[in-house]
Amino acid sequence: MRQAAALMGSVCSVVGVGAVGVGLVIACSVAAAAQARRTVWDGVYSEEQAARGQMQYARACAACHAGDLRGSNTAPSLVEESFAFQWADTSIGELYERIRTLMPSDRPNSLSPQAYRDIVAFLLQSNKFPPGAKELDADGEALKQVLITTKR
Ligand code: HEC
Repeated sequence: MRQAAALMGSVCSVVGVGAVGVGLVIACSVAAAAQARRTVWDGVYSEEQAARGQMQYARACAACHAGDLRGSNTAPSLVEESFAFQWADTSIGELYERIRTLMPSDRPNSLSPQAYRDIVAFLLQSNKFPPGAKELDADGEALKQVLITTKR
């Protein structure tokens, strides 16, 4: 909240102090909301989390999607164009939900929420999105606010 207020401060200061009333307040909060939206380029997972995810992946996913994530006859690749094509302009929340409800295909929803998040962190790392200081948010709604995009 403090961060949002700070953002709003900077956005509103550009608008200036001359304007008065509700219009200005709305303009400022819309701008702040737009700025608060994060993408996969903002360091949304930690390296430690991705390392845990790598172990989970080896155990639960690699048999079908291959150790290098490039897929096999039936299971699609989870990196590069294949990942970008399928997931660009969706959110981390959607990716997480799809994996949790569909995978592993022979026993969906069989891992803990934490394990699924860790695997998502590993997928982000494998697709060369930068790590940050904090782990992926445990709140599904918050994860839906993080956009997957191929461009910075
Ligand atoms: C038993 C084999 C098998 C295992 C294990 C498995 N997958 Fe899959 N996966 C598939 C197949 C087959 C598809 C393509 C058909 C489908 O979407 O069901 C797929 C599709 C996917 C997709 C694309 C889903 C979509 O929306 O189309 C993702 C992402 C994925 N797998 C991730 C994972 C992850 C992460 C794990 C480990 C938790 C995992 N898979 C484990 C076989 C497997």
